Amino acid sequence: MAEVLPIRLYGDPVLRKKALPVGDFSGLGELAENMAETMFEYGGVGLAAPQVGLARRLFIAAEYAFEEEEAEADEDERPRSVLKNLYVMVNPRITYRAGEQVGTEGCLSIPGVYSDDVPRDLQIRVEYQDVQGEPRELEAEGYLARVIQHELDHLEGVLFLDRIPAELRRPFMEEHRSELAEMQRKAKAFLRELKAERG
Ligand code: NI
Repeated sequence: MAEVLPIRLYGDPVLRKKALPVGDFSGLGELAENMAETMFEYGGVGLAAPQVGLARRLFIAAEYAFEEEEAEADEDERPRSVLKNLYVMVNPRITYRAGEQVGTEGCLSIPGVYSDDVPRDLQIRVEYQDVQGEPRELEAEGYLARVIQHELDHLEGVLFLDRIPAELRRPFMEEHRSELAEMQRKAKAFLRELKAERG
């Protein structure tokens, strides 16, 4: 049975670390399954290893079928979201970027906080390894490309907050100041607890 892992919150230093490359692929399948279980539990579309406390270059990204059908969908009749693909990307790097998009992002490590002003590349190609270490390549655009860029940022210690254009970022941070401060308190409390458990 896959396990739901605790998600590290804004303020946890692991979210600001540059993650290290994965060299040992043993046990990675189980980690990816636990991360998927965690992501589904919290209703996310992606989750990076640092968000579960591991500064390693690995993330998962979900692609739901409704994204493509959205344009045809009737307003009152939202299509069911059906999981189309679940990508596990190890040691990913973007090898091609084109175009621009601005859209909405949130993050499981910053729950309840969303910005509509996050710029990303519209189309990307990403090279990565799967859980067995086999080289893979994916071309993505639109929403999936956004998710992949967001997750890849996590491996660099970058959060979507950092991507908000400078002139909008200050008022955004001000607007969410108390929520963010509360997350920082919870992150610290979690780390204290973890330290006590580990002795
Ligand atoms: Ni995130």
